[in-house]
Amino acid sequence: MIIEHAYAHLPSYREETWPWSVPCVRQLLDEGLRFTAPVTFLVGENGSGKSTLVEALAEGFGLDSYGGSHDWRYASPRGKSALGECMRFDAASGRGRRMVTSWSARKGFFLRAETALDALGREGFSPDHVSHGEGFLAAFRGKFLHPGLYVLDEPEAALSFSSCLELIGHIDRLAREGGQVICATHSPLLTALPGAEIIEVGEHGMRQVAWRELGIVDHWRRYLTDPHAYLRHIVEP
Ligand SMILES: Nc1ncnc2c1ncn2[C@@H]1O[C@H](COP(=O)(O)OP(=O)(O)O)[C@@H](O)[C@H]1O
Ligand SMILES: [Mg+2]
Repeated sequence: MIIEHAYAHLPSYREETWPWSVPCVRQLLDEGLRFTAPVTFLVGENGSGKSTLVEALAEGFGLDSYGGSHDWRYASPRGKSALGECMRFDAASGRGRRMVTSWSARKGFFLRAETALDALGREGFSPDHVSHGEGFLAAFRGKFLHPGLYVLDEPEAALSFSSCLELIGHIDRLAREGGQVICATHSPLLTALPGAEIIEVGEHGMRQVAWRELGIVDHWRRYLTDPHAYLRHIVEP
């Protein structure tokens, strides 16, 4: 594990403007965000603030906000966001201390769904010759090797069921080897990783939840049991 606490302080901000208008960002400013396990999943509705949060965490740690690894952050075509700029971290004991105190020791990778293929191209994985999902898998196999901070934004988007299982294996291995993974996701499959912490993001801000209590798990279970129970409200008979 690398970081155990992320926080951000600002002397003042306008609550009605993004990103301060997002409830989870305001909770981060008020209380910080504590990590209790080497793998943390952030779940929540579209627009709840997961991407805003993971981007700021990645930026604050020095990972390129466009997506990519620590060693080409200066090539970023985007500037740091106001939130990324003021993000600070407390290190977990052990390996984390060096990574958090020394900028050059920081290692990791930020996989951002929207720009992942482009980012992978810059990393040497040729995106022209592989599918979106294959590109993701190539990144997991080729880049998720060293203990560091891995920030993932909906990595399941392009992955099949079995590829998601492979991804869980990579995440688990990284965590066991001293790394840390923070992952925004809608996947009931990924969030089932034993020992992972799950944080639900929404209007309330952020709160820890158990896998069994997640809305996405309940909805998927009921949908698979009886799709019609949902579809009769959506499609015409
Ligand atoms: N660059 C931006 N400028 C202004 N508003 C934004 C920007 N990015 C996201 N938002 C808004 O912030 C809220 C949270 O978005 P986002 O973090 O992308 O949610 P999620 O990833 O959970 O779907 C949404 O209301 C979205 O419209
Ligand atoms: Mg998002």
